[in-house]
Amino acid sequence: MANPPVSAVDLEANLYRQKRYEETYQTHSDPWDYSSYADRVRFRTIADAARNWFPAPRRALDVACGLGQLTVLLDDFSEQVFAYDFAPSAVERTRERCEQAGCQRVQVDVRDATDPGYESDCFDLILMSDMDISGNRDWWCHVLAIHKGFLTRDGIIVACGRIKADGRKQFDENFRAMHGTILDRIYFHDRYWFKARSVVKRVMPSPMAKGLLGRPWFYHTAKTLGRLAGPMGSIHYGVVVGFP
Ligand SMILES: C[S@@+](CC[C@H](N)C(=O)[O-])C[C@H]1O[C@@H](n2cnc3c(N)ncnc32)[C@H](O)[C@@H]1O
Repeated sequence: MANPPVSAVDLEANLYRQKRYEETYQTHSDPWDYSSYADRVRFRTIADAARNWFPAPRRALDVACGLGQLTVLLDDFSEQVFAYDFAPSAVERTRERCEQAGCQRVQVDVRDATDPGYESDCFDLILMSDMDISGNRDWWCHVLAIHKGFLTRDGIIVACGRIKADGRKQFDENFRAMHGTILDRIYFHDRYWFKARSVVKRVMPSPMAKGLLGRPWFYHTAKTLGRLAGPMGSIHYGVVVGFP
């Protein structure tokens, strides 16, 4: 599939999102407000799936790195890690996190996914987690196609996000349309956690709710319920894609 062009309207929407994200990072320390435990499990699930399919990448890329939680995990098993985000404050915070975690081989930059400007044949592993894909489908396919161009011959993309069950087919299809093979699917079994969270937040004062939601047993109970529901128990969804 040829790389679909990005319309002026999509570029403008992208700029608007950049501004909005930057403002969010400047005003919130934990903008997505997951409990730290649920968040840790989610990032670990993504990193484990990536490592399972590419155990020792020479270069790995964390696209739209946000606060850098995945960037740090990539450093555990990659020779060199690159990360970028179009919000300068996110980049700053990812750098701080990497420094605190003692990561030596990480380079973090401000770049835009619409045209991040890496060389071809550069990365063995590209992670795209929870990127805002509210841009239209052409924009997302453009971003995917560009990143596919940065992969080495055996390289893989791991992409995930909050994707409703009825959107998963289309999500997969976007990769197949560019000759990708879905090697694995990632389910997070978090639907019940999100449901419970909204109830708990409604009935409890915020600090108590945060304390409860951050407990491992709370998360594990929700996760078990989600597991019983199979893929439907998952709000987040991801794919591991190769391009044989
Ligand atoms: C919900 S956060 C997810 C962050 C992180 N990847 C994660 O999984 O937690 C979405 C991130 O995507 C970044 N982002 C969205 N569109 C982008 C674009 N066009 N180029 C670069 N970064 C982008 C935002 O700045 C934000 O940090």
